[in-house]
Amino acid sequence: MKSHFRHPVTPGSLFLSLEGIEASGKTTQIKEIEELVVKKGLRVLTLREPGGTAFGEKLREAILSSSAPLHPLAECHLFLASRAQLLKEMILPFLLTPGSVVILDRYIDSTLAYQGKARRLGYETVLTLHQHDPLNLLPHRTYFLDIDLHTSLQRQTVRGNTKDYFESQKGEFYQNLIDGYRELAGMYPERILHVDAQRSAGEITQVIKSDLEKFFP
Ligand code: TMP
Repeated sequence: MKSHFRHPVTPGSLFLSLEGIEASGKTTQIKEIEELVVKKGLRVLTLREPGGTAFGEKLREAILSSSAPLHPLAECHLFLASRAQLLKEMILPFLLTPGSVVILDRYIDSTLAYQGKARRLGYETVLTLHQHDPLNLLPHRTYFLDIDLHTSLQRQTVRGNTKDYFESQKGEFYQNLIDGYRELAGMYPERILHVDAQRSAGEITQVIKSDLEKFFP
């Protein structure tokens, strides 16, 4: 990734993100990671994007309930506004204490895949918008849970919730997202672990946990 990016440096602290399309199983795996981190005696803070602060939750509501199609750049700036506030209020202060772990449900790769690829803003535009502090902070590790379009649509039907702004998009949008995430995993193999998430939840947890062990002292 471009050189204006940095990782958190507090000894023994870890910044993790989980990524994937709708219904890829992020929530289940986040609970497993939380359990592991607590067992290790570390502090854990789990947050979601967009949201995680009072201001961010308002932005989340504004985006996901929008009935008007937003300009991709408008979308992108709203997600970045939520992210900057989350970094300032929650992530950066929490990571200052050694032995702290932040787990994020979506982060920069969501913006790269959704706005950069599927909304066609381009990766370069999204990366450039992240060049200033605090948006230039990268996770130590990102788990990309990869499921195919068919599985995602099937799981969304089973869940049966009302569709939000992105969930009402067509199949082509989702396929672009999947392609985008796979490209990103290829571009940043040192940060992103590409996990085949068509497998059982238990198997996926094993893959993630054994990878995570490398990051603990
Ligand atoms: P979710 O938390 O239920 O996954 O909803 C968040 C939605 O927002 C999801 O469809 C992905 C989308 N999103 C973006 O398009 N860009 C972003 O930068 C982020 C964080 C989320």
